[in-house]
Parts: sequence; structure tokens; C-alpha cells
Amino acid sequence: MLVNFNEILKDAKKNSYAVPHFNINNLEWARNILEQMQELNLPVILGVSEGAASYMGGFYTIRVMVEGLIKDLNITIPVCLHLDHGGSFESCKKAIDAGFTSVMIDASKYELEKNKEITKQVVDYAHPKGVSVEAEVGHVGGTEDNVYGDVFRATLEDCFEITKTGIDALAPALGSVHGLYKGEPNLDFDRMKQINESLSIPLVLHGGTGIPYDMIKKAISCGISKININTELQVTWHKAVCDFIKENPTVYDPRKVIGSGKAPMKAKVLELINVFNEKHLKPNSTDNNII
Ligand code: 13P
Repeated sequence: MLVNFNEILKDAKKNSYAVPHFNINNLEWARNILEQMQELNLPVILGVSEGAASYMGGFYTIRVMVEGLIKDLNITIPVCLHLDHGGSFESCKKAIDAGFTSVMIDASKYELEKNKEITKQVVDYAHPKGVSVEAEVGHVGGTEDNVYGDVFRATLEDCFEITKTGIDALAPALGSVHGLYKGEPNLDFDRMKQINESLSIPLVLHGGTGIPYDMIKKAISCGISKININTELQVTWHKAVCDFIKENPTVYDPRKVIGSGKAPMKAKVLELINVFNEKHLKPNSTDNNII
């Protein structure tokens, strides 16, 4: 079932665990993640960047593909189909019109007033359609869709101001970066905790790849309810496929080559869920019906 993220993140915030947001790049990514999360009987957010959307053909293709997988694979967990880092109102509108159940409007490159204005426009369009909205203040650094940016940490005042737009979740930039870290991540846990205690909406941690697991657990204890992972699954898949090609240089069937990344990807998803949500990790248990 495609849902917005409101109920799943509300439960995560209340019970101090994090729901995974995994970026998808193709059918195999979506399938592997859905299968693993179904085995765990836990909800999942499938994130789609604008670059990934254009790679796969467009928002409509992706929505139909994900709904098809849900039906054909008998996926019964809540699945949220979420535009990641929508760069404009128009991009969010396109995703919503194609049936996405959630969007992130990332107007963090603008100063606060303009960020608020664009975010409010998205909220006003999304909410009557039952679509949830995430926004960003400060700026998550690193490389996303081949674009590099520096980190600007969010202030409590900016976080408070952006919530006036009616958003459902907030990604305050607090030192994490997209892609691989150079050295140890430097997250501002004190401010994370302070923002969480001051706001009623769930908080999102971008740039989940490469953050040591004890820091991820600390971030969850400071109020993070949604963690975004993209690069980690790409690196896992890439290594598996390189090994496969090295060992089987004459195999050219794409199902075998691409598919050689399936088991390692599923194992990585499981490993991450162990960190994000160990309490609920009871495979095939009906107790996992947390919403
Ligand atoms: P990583 O690529 O660092 O995992 O970041 C993903 C992300 O934050 C997507 O919004």
C-alpha cells in the first residue's frame, strides 16, 4: 500500500526509532528493498531524486513500477513513495500529480524567507491531496545528483520559522553530508536534541551513508525519525557486481550481472535496520504491525 509518511514517522518519533529512506535508482533497487523490508514486516520510504526520476523515465513510470511491484510481490507493508530534494514547486507538483505520496521541497539554497515561501506553496498543493512534505533548513553538504555543496548548519530559529509553513517533517542540516565522508562526520547532537525538543514534527537525517553506527544510534536518541541512505547501497551493489564480473568474465546476461548485487544489497538493508530499529526487528512477526 502506498502511504504518506505521517503515520509511520509519528510512530517512530513516539517510540524512538528511525524509519529508513532508501533512494532507488531502478527496478532492481526498488525490488530488493521492498523484498527485504517485507521480510522484516516494517514500513519503508522509497526516495527518488530528480536525477533518478529522469534516469528511470519520469515520475509516472516510477509510481506505476512501484505499485506494480507491490502487487506482484504481495507487499503488504506501508510504502511511502517520496520525491527526494525536489528543487522547485514545479518538480514537487509533477511528482504529486504522478501519484507520489510524499515530497521533499529543498529550497535550502535560498535565504530563509524565500525557502519559506516556496515550501508553503508546496504544502498548500500537497496537503489537500494527502501528500506529506519534508523541507530542509541550513544545507546538507556533499554531492547529490553530481552537484557539490558545502555544509551550512541549521539554527533553531530557522527550524522554528520553517515549521510555520505547515510541513510534516524537517531535515535540519547539522553536519552530515551526502556521499562518502572524508574523515569522521561531525554532527551537532546538542542542537539536534534542542531542535527535537522544540518542534513537534519528526526530524530527518540526510547523508546517512558512512555515519558510524554508534553515531546513528545517538542521532536517533536525539530525535531523528527518518534516515536517508543512498550511497551505501550503491557502494554495496558496485562491489558485488565488480566481484561477479571478475569471477565470471564471460557472463553477459544482465539479469545475472545486475542480479549479483541482490543478496548483498538485501544484507546491507538488514544490517542498517538492525541499527535504526532493533526493537522492532522480529522477522515475520505480527508484532511488527506498528501502525
Ligand atoms: P547518502 O548518499 O550519503 O546516503 O545520502 C542520501 C541522502 O541523504 C538522500 O537524500
